[in-house]
Amino acid sequence: MNSKRILQINSSILGEKSYSKRLGNAIVEKIKEKYPNSILEQLDVVERNIPHLTPETLNAMFTPEEEHTDETRQALQLSDKLVKQLFDCDILVIGAPLINRTIHSSLKAWIDHITRRGITFGYNSAGIPIGFVSGKKVYVAMSSGGIYTDEQGKEHDFVAPYLKSFLGFLGMTDFTVFKAEGLHVPIIQDTALEKGINSIVID
Ligand SMILES: Cc1cc2nc3c(=O)[nH]c(=O)nc-3n(C[C@H](O)[C@H](O)[C@H](O)COP(=O)(O)O)c2cc1C
Repeated sequence: MNSKRILQINSSILGEKSYSKRLGNAIVEKIKEKYPNSILEQLDVVERNIPHLTPETLNAMFTPEEEHTDETRQALQLSDKLVKQLFDCDILVIGAPLINRTIHSSLKAWIDHITRRGITFGYNSAGIPIGFVSGKKVYVAMSSGGIYTDEQGKEHDFVAPYLKSFLGFLGMTDFTVFKAEGLHVPIIQDTALEKGINSIVID
C-alpha cells in the first residue's frame, strides 16, 4: 500500500522559524517518498489554541451516553473531533519543542482532549489499562535549546519519555523520536537541524 493518512501536529510558539516544524516537515516528506499517495492533515495546536479542559468538558466526558444533554454534547464537540481525527490517521507526526523542560501546554491540552475513557483507553477486568488507539506509527520531531541525549541531559527531558509513556498508554506503542537539539549551543546549533533531518529513517 503506497498511501498513508498522516496527521501532523505542530506545537511551536516560534512561528515559521520553528525547528520542530521543519524537522516534522522533513519527516512528512520522507513518509511521502515511501508512500507517495499519502494524504496529509495538519493541526497546529498553538494556532488552533486548544483550550484547557474545563469542569464542563470533564463532566461531559464522564456522563453516560444515555444521560447526555445538548450542553454535554456541545462541551464534547472539540474532543470528539480531535479523537476522530486521531483514529482516522495511520501515522502521527508530532512537532514537540522542549519548553521549560516539557511539552508546550497546547500539546498537553490536545492530549487531555484525546484521552477519553471507553473511547481511547479502558481497563480490563484485572484493572490493567488498555489503549484503544492501536495500529498507528508515531514520529516525534523534538527540538531543544540544550542537549538531552547524554546521560546528564536525559533526566531533564520530560518531552520524549512523557510522550512515549502517555501515547503508549493510549495504545500508540510504535514510537520513534528524531531530535534537533543543542539549538542554543554555539557551534552545535549550526548543524543541529541538518543532523536531525539526516537521522530520519522511515520504517
Ligand atoms: C519559553 C521557552 C522555554 C524554553 N525552555 C527550554 C528548556 O527548558 N530547555 C531547552 O533546552 N530549551 C528550551 N527552550 C528552547 C527551545 O526548545 C528551542 O527554542 C526550540 O527551537 C523550540 O522549538 P521550535 O523552534 O520548534 O519552536 C525554550 C524556548 C522557549 C521559547
